[in-house]
Amino acid sequence: MKTTGNTVFISGGSAGIGLAIAKKLNAEGNKIIINGRNEERLQNALEQLDNAVGIQGDLSLEADRIRIAAELKENYPDVNIIINNAGAAFGYLLNETLNAHQKAAIEMNTNYFSVIHFTELLLPHLLQKKEAAVINVSSIAVFRSHKFLPTYSATKAALHSYTVALRNTYEEEKNIRIYEVYPPLVNTEFSAEIGGANGIPPAEVADELILALEKDQFDVPVGDSKQFFKLA
Ligand SMILES: NC(=O)c1ccc[n+]([C@@H]2O[C@H](COP(=O)([O-])OP(=O)(O)OC[C@H]3O[C@@H](n4cnc5c(N)ncnc54)[C@H](OP(=O)(O)O)[C@@H]3O)[C@@H](O)[C@H]2O)c1
Repeated sequence: MKTTGNTVFISGGSAGIGLAIAKKLNAEGNKIIINGRNEERLQNALEQLDNAVGIQGDLSLEADRIRIAAELKENYPDVNIIINNAGAAFGYLLNETLNAHQKAAIEMNTNYFSVIHFTELLLPHLLQKKEAAVINVSSIAVFRSHKFLPTYSATKAALHSYTVALRNTYEEEKNIRIYEVYPPLVNTEFSAEIGGANGIPPAEVADELILALEKDQFDVPVGDSKQFFKLA
């Protein structure tokens, strides 16, 4: 699909991978709408972008999802790409915690249920566009579990499963494309407690996404995820 002239909403676009994608798409000539919970962080990110606005809100909350979707349709009706990037993860060990089920519930809510709901809220709008896309940011964790992220991988595997179903559902609709980005370990705040400093820079994920958009390559494994993707 075209990589310029779009209006792109990025959940969790105020830092890390989301901000790197925002910068790259901005430089390619797209209008950017970034989101995050912390207003100050959002404003700092906006200072690094041109032709960009922010919508504060917590995508893990139903009321915020409804408000943000309504605001997008009302104030930014040109929005034709949504990037479901905001995510939650807890790094811990199953033999050192008693509340794994609570952590799992938070991860599943943010990484899976919230994405399904938010996408559902925007799909009718996107389907009216000449060209539209839903881009879900999953993870290398789709392909393997990790003892330090014991309940996170399943939430990304669930997101992957939903994304495949969504793509298959709309495969006859030529105006909407469903992408999935599988980052490996990326050096962001998110991954700091699991050795993220050894990860790739977030800009590498953004570069791979732009190339994939240009080629209509709907699965976008990045770095080490490519090997796992081949075997899956
Ligand atoms: N970093 C990695 O190694 C890695 C690897 C594979 C996949 N991923 C995935 O990539 C995505 C982005 O991760 P990242 O590493 O870029 O994280 P990050 O650097 O911590 O940035 C997360 C962004 O999301 C926002 N955010 C977090 N929770 C939110 C919520 N509930 N509602 C709205 N905004 C929210 C944050 O801002 P506020 O805190 O102000 O809300 C921030 O803008 C996640 O889905 C993650 O699972 C990351």
